[in-house]
Order: sequence, then structure tokens, then C-alpha cells
Amino acid sequence: MGKPEVGRRILVVDDDPVFCSGIALVLTGQGLEVSLAATGRQALDLLAQQDFDVVLLDLRLPDMDGLDLLRLLQQEHPHTVAVMITGHPQINTAVEAMKLGALDYLVKPFRLDDLEVLVERALDLALERRLQSSAPAPEDPDPKGLDSIVGQSPAMQKVFAKIRRAAPSDSTVLLTGESGTGKELAARAIHRLSPRAHREFVPVDCSALVETLLESELFGHVKGSFTGAHQTKHGLFELANHGTFFFDEISNLSLNIQAKLLRVIQEREFMKVGSQKRIRLDIRIIASSNRDLKAAIKEGAFREDLYYRLSVVPIHLPPLREREGDIPLLIQHFLRKYSQKAHREVAGVSPEALKVLSAYHWPGNVRELEHTIERILILEDGEFIQPEHLPSFISQRQAEFQVFTDSGLTLEELEKRYIQFVLRRTRGRRQEAARILGINRKTLGHKITKYQLKIG
Ligand SMILES: Nc1ncnc2c1ncn2[C@@H]1O[C@H](COP(=O)(O)OP(=O)(O)OP(=O)(O)O)[C@@H](O)[C@H]1O
Ligand SMILES: [Mg+2]
Repeated sequence: MGKPEVGRRILVVDDDPVFCSGIALVLTGQGLEVSLAATGRQALDLLAQQDFDVVLLDLRLPDMDGLDLLRLLQQEHPHTVAVMITGHPQINTAVEAMKLGALDYLVKPFRLDDLEVLVERALDLALERRLQSSAPAPEDPDPKGLDSIVGQSPAMQKVFAKIRRAAPSDSTVLLTGESGTGKELAARAIHRLSPRAHREFVPVDCSALVETLLESELFGHVKGSFTGAHQTKHGLFELANHGTFFFDEISNLSLNIQAKLLRVIQEREFMKVGSQKRIRLDIRIIASSNRDLKAAIKEGAFREDLYYRLSVVPIHLPPLREREGDIPLLIQHFLRKYSQKAHREVAGVSPEALKVLSAYHWPGNVRELEHTIERILILEDGEFIQPEHLPSFISQRQAEFQVFTDSGLTLEELEKRYIQFVLRRTRGRRQEAARILGINRKTLGHKITKYQLKIG
């Protein structure tokens, strides 16, 4: 893969003319457009005139401190990647430069190979920075920390208190809870309330990536480390260092990646795929799971040591059916959120409809409630939400349970009717019915035969 010709401008800032012209020769040979500056002043003038992708910067300049120039560069030209050059191995200053955001440093005299590799890395990073900043900013669902998490129930008050307590520290947080309970919302709130709020929040969907990609996605890889690795790639860890990492659905990581992640968490260092060089990592980790991780540990699918590393601060998001009194608040919240989109105003929900909605067991939790309200706004008319506007499975289920409790059925008869009810609702789709009932397909098959149930 050839790199685009844009994005190959480099500025070399060094007061040694022999060194500069030597470097210029090498880099021009690499296809770069090279500009030279002998002083900090000259460098600033050039930077004001044109945009550079990479700046090679001597730490010692005749007229100013290289670190000061680096600071100015980071402020004024955040896309430009800086690589430091130092005549003396002043390791402290070089480390200081990396803290300020320089990619790396070279100690004079260095091998031209090392220079070439480092410059390629810097160009890659510059390109990625440009791509990232030109992408449209993602819609921010949580601008102000806890404000967008609706809930006054005692169960949610406890969650808010835990979030407030955990946020300011760097402690690792494990968010658990059923699907749709707001784990991602909570993770973002923790980030917003933390000192890292102005840095990046990086969600990593552990279930969406195949194993090999996940590894190079996180750690990055060096050119040639595996078939298809045509170029050195910076992983998310490197690109979003100093931010918050959110490992969503952590139980989906393979045991192999779990082992690697554990090492990263313990050592706060990592290496790119195919490289031996250790890179320091300063990140805050938040993980989520809707699976019971303790059960996964028993099954041998999740590492116990990783579990203890992650659950330094465990926060459990309660299911919606346990949040006494939150349903009316959430309905108002979603009515407000979607009435603009649907171009209509709905004043609220009638007491009868609220009763039905409150009795429903919400297996999909807040997300299901949100979709229900959105759907009603789009499909139904009326100033208030009425029971007849509700999807049939929400109202029907309540009605059927009414029948069950009134007629004094035996448990077996109840089981039979309930399975029949679910089969009807799923139009005979056994997989779906088994999932709702919490049994496997085989067991469902036995029950269908036993009770001679109708399918569909
Ligand atoms: N307390 C809440 N107040 C307002 N909106 C909420 C609340 N909880 C969840 N939501 C909304 O519900 C949806 C689902 O939330 P979120 O993605 O955070 O859940 P999750 O626990 O990560 O779910 P999953 O396990 O399925 O990934 C989002 O649109 C979110 O904005
Ligand atoms: Mg989620």
C-alpha cells in the first residue's frame, strides 16, 4: 500500500548544518519534503507558514529550550508529530519530552535505519491524527456526567454514590448488569467526572473483533510482523494513551487475550505485535459484562486473576424491574428526547398505561423502554399514551398473568400455558422461545411433546 503523497512534510530543527544536510539527503531519498531550521525562531516562522506532519527537534537549540518549542508545537499544531533528537543521552529530558507528547527520541549518533523506521512511525501517527480529527465528532450521549442518567430509586442512588466516589481516582471499575441497564452510560459518566475528562474515552467492543485483529487493534503491530502487516500500525493503547479505556463485554475476550490484557494491567507497559520495545501506558480501565463472570470463571472461560484485577471497584447496575419509581421519570425523559425527532408532542402517559408499563418485567431494561417509547411516538396518535398504544406483548403478558392468578392453576398447568403463550408470541420460533423461557431447545422440545403444545 502506497501512502498518499499528502502528509509527508517534515521539518528538521537542529543548529548543526552538517547534520542537517545529511539528514535532509536521507529523508528526501525516502520521498519526504524536507525543510530545515537552525534556530527555534526559524522553526516557529516556518511552522507559521506551512503545515508539517513531522518535526525532528533537537533538545538543545541556540536560542531556546527544545522542550519549550515542543510545548508551543503541541499547542499550536496538535496534528504534528514530534520526534526529539538529543546529542547527549539526557534521559530525563527525553522522558519529559515524551510526557509532553513527543512520539520518541533518538540519541546522536544514531543509525540511519533507526531514523527511517522512526520517521515512518511518526508519519503514520500524523496521518491517523488527521483522519481522526477530520471524522465527524461522535454524538456525545453524556455531556455532564451523571445528569443524563435518569433515576431516583434507592437502587440508582446507590449507583450514583459509587460512581461519584470512584470517578476521581484511577481505580479500575467493573460494571455489571443485564443488557440495556446503562453500563456504557455509567462508564462515560465516570470518565466525565474524572481528571481524564478532557482526554479520550475509548470504547473497545470485545465481542465485535476477531482475535487477531483485536490484538493488533489494541497493541498495534510493526511492519512485516504477520502476513498483511504492510505497514507499522499504532494500536489504540498508543493512540489514546492517558485516556480512559472501556472494555465492553469483557467476557467475550479469548483466554489468550485475557492473559495479555492481564499483563498490560499489571505492568502498565505493552509491546506492539512483532516488536520487543516496551511502551509505557497510562490509562484508566473500565470494563463491563452482562454475563456472570464468577460463573464464567467456574466454567474455565474467564481468568480469575484478571477478574480480581478488574473488579477493584465493582458497580452493579440493577435491572429496571428493581428500580422502584424510575419508570415514569424515564418515560418523561424519552418522551422529551424523541418528541422532537417524531415532530409531535405527547403530554405524558395515562395512569392505566403506566400501570401496565410498571408491571411489565422489562427483560431488555432501559433500552427496551426507550425503544418502546420511541415506537409509540412514531406509530401512535393521541395526547397521552394509552394502554392500547402499547405493544401487545407488554399488555398481553399482564392480562395473561391476571388469568393465571385468578384461576388457581397448578404449577404444571401454568407451565404448559406459559410455554404455549411464549410460543405464540414468538410465532413458533423455538430458538427465540427457549431463550425467553431460559431453557435450552432440547428441553423445550420435550415440554412441547409432553404438553402436546401447538407450534406457531
Ligand atoms: N438511567 C438511564 N437514563 C437514561 N437513559 C438510559 C439510562 N440507562 C440506559 N439508558 C439508555 O438506554 C440505552 C442502553 O444503555 P447502555 O448502552 O448504556 O446499556 P448497556 O448496559 O451498555 O447495554 P448492553 O449490555 O446491551 O450493551 C442507551 O440508549 C442509554 O442512553
Ligand atoms: Mg453496552
